[in-house]
Amino acid sequence: MRKNYCIANWKMNQSIKDCKNFANYMENNFNYNSSEMLICPSFIHLDLMSYLFTASQIEIGSQSISEYQNGAFTAEISCEMLLDMNINWAIIGHSERRQIFKESDYEIHNKLKNAVQNGVNPILCIGESLEQRQSGNTESILKNQVKMAINTLDFTDVNLIIAYEPVWAIGTGIAADLSTIADTHDQIRSFLPEFISTSKSIPVLYGGSVNPDNCKEILNIENVNGFLIGGASLDPQKFLNIYKQMNEIGVESL
Ligand code: PGA
Repeated sequence: MRKNYCIANWKMNQSIKDCKNFANYMENNFNYNSSEMLICPSFIHLDLMSYLFTASQIEIGSQSISEYQNGAFTAEISCEMLLDMNINWAIIGHSERRQIFKESDYEIHNKLKNAVQNGVNPILCIGESLEQRQSGNTESILKNQVKMAINTLDFTDVNLIIAYEPVWAIGTGIAADLSTIADTHDQIRSFLPEFISTSKSIPVLYGGSVNPDNCKEILNIENVNGFLIGGASLDPQKFLNIYKQMNEIGVESL
């Protein structure tokens, strides 16, 4: 069955106090509905968050993983370390990793491979720059990102999620317009079967300036199966508001 996801990407934000306040707010206000909620704090807060959400249906994920299994790789975080903290989700290939930290398609593939081999569920991010969109290359850019990342990997044993995040809409406060989101999600849905035999069961999320005011209309778009949220996920009230709207709309689950 294809599920819908509301995922928080906290990036390099939040303190220990913020983590505790967030957990406290969710403990008092969160009621599990049909959609999944997942929070990706910074590496240093993963253990604390995993502990704070032990008894919760809200899951915790990491914002990245190493492409290596383990060994002499200073500052890297292995899948084994995540699993040891009961964390089995990881964002891979976020545009900030690709652009600022120069992660290549090859490296992203290796990270994805490492996740699959270790049973960590990957949230693969894809997205085009403004220049690429303006030159009419969006579909081929996205398709190539998926192709390079997936190569011949098999996702039978993990839950793969694709997050479409137009780079030009991230952190700007202005989400992509509805027709752009609709067209691009349709394109992704139609090329996914070329790379993944089980593509129907894979959720395709939208990310880029999602907030409680614009989420409803985006969720009404047919091929949007949830969100990856940065800024608006830092505030538990806003984030839960989005989750609730998602459940009210009852986004299609296959
Ligand atoms: P944003 O970030 O919601 O702040 O635009 C989304 C993301 O980068 O995952």
